[in-house]
Amino acid sequence: MNALATRFTGLDFVNPFVLASAPPTESKRKILRAFEAGWGGVVTKTIGLHPVENVAGPKTIFQRTSDVAPYVSRNKRPDTVSHSSWNWELISDQPLDLWLPDLEEIKTTYPDRMLIASIMAGAGGEEEMENWRKLARAVVNVGCDAIELNMSCPHMDRKDMGAHIANDEDIIRSILKAVKSAVDVPIWVKLTPATSTLVDAAGAAYEAGAASISLCNTFPSLPLMDPETMKFEVEVDGLVTSGGLGGLAILPQALQRVSDINKAYPDGAVSGIGGIRGFREAFNFIVHGAGNLQVCTAAMEEKGSGGVGVKLIQELTDDLKDYMERKGFSSIEDFRGIARDRIVEHSQVRRKSDEYNGGYKISA
Ligand SMILES: Cc1cc2nc3c(=O)[nH]c(=O)nc-3n(C[C@H](O)[C@H](O)[C@H](O)COP(=O)(O)O)c2cc1C
Repeated sequence: MNALATRFTGLDFVNPFVLASAPPTESKRKILRAFEAGWGGVVTKTIGLHPVENVAGPKTIFQRTSDVAPYVSRNKRPDTVSHSSWNWELISDQPLDLWLPDLEEIKTTYPDRMLIASIMAGAGGEEEMENWRKLARAVVNVGCDAIELNMSCPHMDRKDMGAHIANDEDIIRSILKAVKSAVDVPIWVKLTPATSTLVDAAGAAYEAGAASISLCNTFPSLPLMDPETMKFEVEVDGLVTSGGLGGLAILPQALQRVSDINKAYPDGAVSGIGGIRGFREAFNFIVHGAGNLQVCTAAMEEKGSGGVGVKLIQELTDDLKDYMERKGFSSIEDFRGIARDRIVEHSQVRRKSDEYNGGYKISA
């Protein structure tokens, strides 16, 4: 029996590791390579109906730091370790009609791997709801197993798209209603971590029929300016805009968001994303309730793998399997969510003395 097999949102995964919607899943060639390497599933780079044109410069940078000179920079220095990715890449520039035959071929070639199509349209009118339905029908018709609704892209100017709409529970409900009326596959909803109403947004999505919440997309952020050159480390004609931070740097913050959702909706499914680069990070998402794990930056950073994490998926599966054998676990369900009851209110944590009153010492 395959101990790594997981059933998530009604889908059977050969292992719980999935490449997140991003450059590793931007083309048929890369997705086929990822499946050959052993990934349990992929979420495609987000597919939309409107053509996109990216900035005239690098779309992604990888920021590193080091023990000797511990500042964060993309600049090459010896002995550095990965800190984060920063990107301002838009959704897929491949149009829907080119994606469809590719998706069909991928699913036919790897029927046992889960193919999840990430889609995005706008909001605020019947025309945009029809766009969501159109995208959903098209990708399901060619065999996609599930859909992930992108309500989280952090760098959209349009106020009715991406991360902007995750603040509006009515819009979340109306998009889910539209998509659910069009297709009959599990719908995952990818939310932005950059909102104070994340738990309510997740609640609205679950209530409206989302099978799972995918968390987190990148965190809105800026690249650094070099003090000597006085240039941003990535810019076009001296200008930059808010982009998204991913990779190890966001791990603890992503875990907090997943824990918040898991505490509010213990029975709600969560696909955990943000800073996974090995077993330890994946483990941490699982103990906060994630039943599925998505990876982007670490796969992109792996040299010689074409940016799809060939060694990474081998390590992730080997290390998870070893761990489960050592602990006598027969599935990730045996330790999923075990951290839930240990995340408590500040006041519930023992004090050195009992003179605690909401953060102040009574006698102070
Ligand atoms: C260059 C780049 C492009 C991305 N494009 C998308 C996208 O099209 N749709 C989406 O939902 N997320 C996109 N993401 C976000 C990732 O799917 C993922 O949520 C994020 O990078 C955090 O995971 P990580 O820490 O493993 O990188 C992108 C990330 C990067 C670095």
